[in-house]
Amino acid sequence: MADLFSHLERAEALRRQLNEHSYRYYILNAPSITDGEYDRLYRELVELEAAHPEVITPDSPTQRTGNDLQGDFEKVPHAAPILSLSNCFSEEDLYAWEERNRKLLPAGTDLDYTLEPKLDGLTIVITYEDGVLVRAATRGNGLVGDDVTPNVRTIRSVPLRIPADSNPDVPVPKRLVVRGEILFLKADFAALNERQRAAGLPLYVNARNTASGTLKQKDSRITASRPLTAYLYNIVALDGLPMPPTQWDTLNYLRALGFVIPPQAAHYPTLSHIIQQIPTWITHRNQLPFEIDGVVIKLNDQRLADELGFVGKDPRGATAYKFPSEEAKTRLVGVTLSVGRTGKITPTAQLEPVFVGGVTVTSASLHNYDTIAALDIRLGDTVVIKRSGDVIPYVVGPLIGARTGDETAIVPPAVCPFCGAPVIRDEGAVDYFCSNLDCPERVYRQIEFFVSKGALDIEGFGGRTVQALIAKGLIHDEADIFSLTAAPLLELEKFGEKRTDNLLKAIEAAKQRPLTRVLTALGIDGVGETVAESLVAHFGGLDALASATPEAIQHIDGLGPILANNIADWFASPRNQALLGKLRAAGVTFTAEMTAPESDKLAGQTFVLTGTLPTLSREQAEALIKAHGGKISGSVSKKTSYVLVGDSPGSKAEKAAQLGVPILSEADLLAMIG
Ligand code: IVH
Repeated sequence: MADLFSHLERAEALRRQLNEHSYRYYILNAPSITDGEYDRLYRELVELEAAHPEVITPDSPTQRTGNDLQGDFEKVPHAAPILSLSNCFSEEDLYAWEERNRKLLPAGTDLDYTLEPKLDGLTIVITYEDGVLVRAATRGNGLVGDDVTPNVRTIRSVPLRIPADSNPDVPVPKRLVVRGEILFLKADFAALNERQRAAGLPLYVNARNTASGTLKQKDSRITASRPLTAYLYNIVALDGLPMPPTQWDTLNYLRALGFVIPPQAAHYPTLSHIIQQIPTWITHRNQLPFEIDGVVIKLNDQRLADELGFVGKDPRGATAYKFPSEEAKTRLVGVTLSVGRTGKITPTAQLEPVFVGGVTVTSASLHNYDTIAALDIRLGDTVVIKRSGDVIPYVVGPLIGARTGDETAIVPPAVCPFCGAPVIRDEGAVDYFCSNLDCPERVYRQIEFFVSKGALDIEGFGGRTVQALIAKGLIHDEADIFSLTAAPLLELEKFGEKRTDNLLKAIEAAKQRPLTRVLTALGIDGVGETVAESLVAHFGGLDALASATPEAIQHIDGLGPILANNIADWFASPRNQALLGKLRAAGVTFTAEMTAPESDKLAGQTFVLTGTLPTLSREQAEALIKAHGGKISGSVSKKTSYVLVGDSPGSKAEKAAQLGVPILSEADLLAMIG
C-alpha cells in the first residue's frame, strides 16, 4: 500500500514536471531544462506506468503526442495519425525491443531492418495530388496540424511537383502524403547567425527551435530568407498505387520521386548488424552536416510492422536509439580572463561541474564579448553547454526561462587583469587587447610560445620553467634565453645537473633553426608556419624581408593587404628591431633553408588538413605535400584543391562538402604522389 502510494506520488510529480516543461518549451519558447533531461523524466514515467498501469491518468504526457498547434494557423486533419517513436538507450534495450516484437509474430519470422539518422528537426507532413504539392502541415497534436503550405513551398529541397525530374518511369500516385523532418543544416544555421551578428541582432541559440519558428512564420518571405532543408522518410497515405512492401522500398521510391531521403540510410539483415553500426554513427555524428540525436531502426517488412500495431502513440515496428547527450545545463558561476601573447583578452566560463560527452566539465569557451552580448549570456545564468568530440566545450546559450533576476551582465574589462594597463579594441575588431607591450602575462605567453614545439621546439623548456625564469628576473624577452647559464638554472626547482645540461644543449642547438621556424616563433600576428615559408621563399633572407614594403610583401600569393601591413609594421617597430639585433648577437643564425622539391606532382594544388591522420603526423603530411610541390592553406575556400581529412575532423570537412571541394584520405594522398 505504502508502495503504491509512493508510485502514485512519483507519477504525479513526473506528470507535473513534464507538463510544465512542455509548456515552457512549446508555448513560452523558454525551456529551463535540456532535451536530455526531459527525455530522462519522460522515460522514468513510461517505465513507472508500464510497471504500474494503475498510476496512468488521461492527462499523462505519455498519453498524447506533443502539440505544436498555434492559434493563428489553419488546422489540417492528417490522413492518418502522425505517430511518434519509442526510445532505446542501450544494446539491451534494442534486443528487448526485438524480443517483445518476436513474441507477437509467428515463430521463426526473419526480421530485417533499416537504419536511418534520427534527424533533430521537426516533423512535416506534405500532400501531393496528381503530382502537385497541395498542402504541408506540422504534426500538431498528431491528428490535426497547422497549415504551413506557403512556408514549405519556399524550401528548395521539397519538390513542388513529383517526379521532380519528370522521369516517366516512376509511377505517380493520385495522392501521396509523405512525412519527414525539417531542419537547418549546421552550416546554414551558422550562416544565419553570422547574418544576425552582422546586423547587430541577437543570435539564435537552438537550431531546432529556430527551424520551428521559421516554419511557423506568418510571412513566408521570412521563411524563404532562412534556408531550411527537408528530408522525407515515410509514406503516411498513398492512393492509386500499392504501398511499397518494405521501408527500404519506400525510401527508394521517395528518392526516385525526387525527395531527399535521410543521408546514409541503409538496410541490414539483422539487428546485430545494426548494433555493430552504432559506434560508427556516434563517432561520425559530428561530421554530418546536420544535427542528429540518435538513429532510427525500422522493421523493414511493412506488413509485419502493420501487424505489430502500436503502444500508445508509438509504432512497435520502429524505435529510436538515442545517443548520449552532448549538451548539458549547468550554472555559469564565474568568468576568468586570460591574456595571450598578442595581448588578446579571452573570457572563459567557470561552471558548476557537469558531466557531458563522457567527461566532467568545469570551464567552457565563452567565444568573445560580441557573442556574449548577442546571446545575452549573464553571470549566474543557467547555460547550455556543448561538448562534441574533442572540441573544446563551449557555452551554447542561456536558458532564459531559468532566470531568477539575480544574474548580472558580463562586460569587457576596462583594464588588463594582469598589468592594469588600459584595454583597447581596434575599430571594427571583435577582440579586446591589453595595450601594454611589457605586460608580464603577454611576455610570459610570448616566450612560452617562442620555445614551444610549434616554434623553436626547445626540448625540456616548458611553461613552468619560463615562468620560474621570469620570476627570478633571469629572462625578460625571447633573446634572453640564449644567454642562460648553468648556475641560475641549477637553483630552479627540480633542475639537476643532467636536466640543466640537456636544456642548455637544446637552447644552443636552437640557434641554428631555419629562418622559417624563427619567423614563426616571433609570433607576428598572422604569421604561422605557412606564411613564414612563403616569406622566406620570396625574400630569401631576413634582411630583405625586414626592409620590405607592404606592397612588396603583398606580391606573395595569398597574402592580403592587412597581413602585409602587419608584417611590415612589425619589422618597422624599433622594439622588434632591437629584439632581432639581440637574437643575432646571441648567435641565432636566421639561415634561410632552401630545399629542392622531390617532385612536382602536386604543383599548383592547395591542400587543407583537418583531423588526425592514421599514420602521418600533421607536420609529416604537410612536409610531404610541400616536398611534392603542393601548397598548404589554413582554411577551405573555392580555391582549395583538396581537403585531407583524418579522424575527428573539424568544420573544414563540412565546409569542403558545402563548396564541393574534393576530400582525400591519407591513402588517397599517398597514392597521388606514388
Ligand atoms: S519515423 C511512425 N524516422 O523523431 C514513424 N522519425 O522521436 C515515426 N525523426 O516525431 C517517425 N528522424 O520527427 C522517423 N529517420 C526518422 C526520423 C524521425 C527524426 C523524428 C520524428 C519523430 C521523432 C520521434
